[in-house]
Amino acid sequence: MENIKLPGARLKGEMSVEEAIQRRRSRRDFAGAPLTMEQLGQVLWCAQGVTERGGSKRAAPSAGATYPMVLFAAVGEQTVAGLGAGVYQYLPAGHALKKVLEGDIRGRIASAAYRQHFLAEAPLDILMAADHSRTSSRYRGRAPRYVAMEAGHIGQNIYLQAEALGLGTVAVGAFDDGAMAEVFGLPRELEPLYLMPVGHVR
Ligand SMILES: Cc1cc2nc3c(=O)[nH]c(=O)nc-3n(C[C@H](O)[C@H](O)[C@H](O)COP(=O)(O)O)c2cc1C
Repeated sequence: MENIKLPGARLKGEMSVEEAIQRRRSRRDFAGAPLTMEQLGQVLWCAQGVTERGGSKRAAPSAGATYPMVLFAAVGEQTVAGLGAGVYQYLPAGHALKKVLEGDIRGRIASAAYRQHFLAEAPLDILMAADHSRTSSRYRGRAPRYVAMEAGHIGQNIYLQAEALGLGTVAVGAFDDGAMAEVFGLPRELEPLYLMPVGHVR
């Protein structure tokens, strides 16, 4: 299947970074309204988009630019307008999506996260999964802390971008790792670290 090109990110918004910081809260009450491909593209770009002209550096900092994080977007049928239900891997280099799973897994995501039901209601669930080897080959014993720190940086970008778009999100760290890896069909080298549902706030 062909990769799906995302709309280019906007570099000007309606809200200042200061206002986004002031307004940011964890939001768990999502309305069913679908997101647009522009909103999906913007949120993935702020998380792991390539922001270095002619280079490969990304929106969030990474220890030694080792970029251990792989992002997946789980959506329902047309919960992002124009996208079929499934799981899509974000490809930073091409600002594109690659479909990796067919079907709506949001209910199973909520179950694997100890029934945090808002994960089933949000139109979009973003999973950060880490390939620790990318960072540990360089930083050895310090790598686990670096990878966790990087997840925090990415998560904060998503929080602030969601707020600036008039959307909401919440960082979810509480889930069964094995169950979540299975629900997303992760390859063995990827560890699920952080989940962030994104949607319109009720
Ligand atoms: C590492 C981490 C893990 C979290 N895990 C969850 C979670 O599993 N479920 C949830 O509803 N909120 C989770 N949160 C969100 C916190 O509950 C929230 O940030 C906190 O209550 C402060 O509220 P605020 O984000 O609105 O300022 C998590 C936050 C962090 C930083």
